Amino acid sequence: MTLSSVQIMGEDAQSGALADEQTDPAVLAARAAAELPARFVWGAATSAYQVEGAVTADGRGRSIWDTFASTPGKTWRGESGDPACDHYHRHAEDVRLMADLGLDAYRFSVAWPRIQPTGHGAANPAGIAFYDRLVDGLLAAGIDPWLTLYHWDLPQALQDRGGWAERDTAYRFADYAALVADALADRVRHWSTMNEPWCAAFEGNMSGRHAPGIQSPVTAVRVVHHLLVGHGLAVAALRSRGEAQVGISLNLIPAEPADDSLAASDAARLVDGQQIRLFLDALLRGRYPDDVIGDFARAGAQLPIVGDDAVLIAAPIDWIGVNYYAPHIVLQGTDPRGMSPFIPGDAVLAVRTTEEVTALGWPVRPRTFAALLRRLHREYPGIPLYVHENGAAFHDVVSAGGEIDDSDRRGYIARHIDVVREAVLEGVDVRGYFAWSLVDNFEWAEGYRMRFGIVHVDFATQHRTLKGSGRWYSQLIKAHRQTRRT
Ligand code: FCB
Repeated sequence: MTLSSVQIMGEDAQSGALADEQTDPAVLAARAAAELPARFVWGAATSAYQVEGAVTADGRGRSIWDTFASTPGKTWRGESGDPACDHYHRHAEDVRLMADLGLDAYRFSVAWPRIQPTGHGAANPAGIAFYDRLVDGLLAAGIDPWLTLYHWDLPQALQDRGGWAERDTAYRFADYAALVADALADRVRHWSTMNEPWCAAFEGNMSGRHAPGIQSPVTAVRVVHHLLVGHGLAVAALRSRGEAQVGISLNLIPAEPADDSLAASDAARLVDGQQIRLFLDALLRGRYPDDVIGDFARAGAQLPIVGDDAVLIAAPIDWIGVNYYAPHIVLQGTDPRGMSPFIPGDAVLAVRTTEEVTALGWPVRPRTFAALLRRLHREYPGIPLYVHENGAAFHDVVSAGGEIDDSDRRGYIARHIDVVREAVLEGVDVRGYFAWSLVDNFEWAEGYRMRFGIVHVDFATQHRTLKGSGRWYSQLIKAHRQTRRT
């Protein structure tokens, strides 16, 4: 995810942890280990284009991210997912790392262009074989595979025919889901249809900061609806193939007005609508919010709803994956770079410069995460939640001895897990936590300069080194396992 920001100085800016906040990672780990329920799942996440590399191996087709990254000016220094972490060839080593960490689960995505190089037709056996090896390796190591079908790498051939702006792509997605299920549903129990359709739709087609790099509100709104139709069709395809647990992973980014003005509070309403309610209302309540439809209409954009789409999209699911990093802090006005992801384009994202932020300038706000989890429990009751992504980019320093003491990332993760613990004790149904990311990887438009891994990757040698944050996370998981036994 990449966000534009306008720098403002806030008089009420926060700095660092709250005065009464416990921040000692050892204390936070002990609390989480002792108090989270025995069945709580500990995992780490990646996505295909960000880690696999091997972009032409074994018949893989081109994806929109290959095209976008090779277009001058779109990514940091023109970097791409080639070779990323070469996970395609090093998956066995990576599974060993996960086993050493003690992970219960690994969340990864399947590259659609490996399975269907041109987005349609029979499955490419070599593509399936890679995920067979990965899944078998995970199961042999006692790690539960959590599979995401779509993490943004649409086959370029489908984009050439209009991509998600065309309804046909949703049907192609259902076919692809069926092929993957036929191959892996005998071993994979947890299926996420897609990751962050908000990013795919609005960063891909409104701000243009992500592939395919389009800037059109009309296209973005068509895309978001067809993604959700694709989700509904994929749920049906998966259900017809067995007992799989099916859900979707959403980036539910809370919006906060940057000041007390009415304009800022309306900007926050608009952003909240497009980021959170658009998705949860459609998926869990079977309708799109009226104010969001109105905001789209101001840009001449309309959701291309056909027949019973609302019912299709709201097909029952087993859980929601919640991806949380930071809030959006918003003001109204025109984005200076003409790259607002929000429709009709007059909500500007702002950051308080004196606040504690990550290397990407994202505010560190565990309390906002706490409020989000409580809100989900209150406003969308009855659906189990898994934290599918949470973590932070910081600039790592490798010591002379080869150690990476990333206390900033460790602190971020510890404070956010503590909030999950607190929510669970209050009765919020959060059942697991996946750290983003297992390994440093290709961070989309930011290239390799933004590192999110709990394992460091030297991209020149592909050498992996566990960071301090990874060691801490592993100790927490092992301590939790001890308490499960007692
Ligand atoms: C999320 C994406 C993930 C990663 C993190 C930092 O928006 O799902 O791929 O880039 O942000």
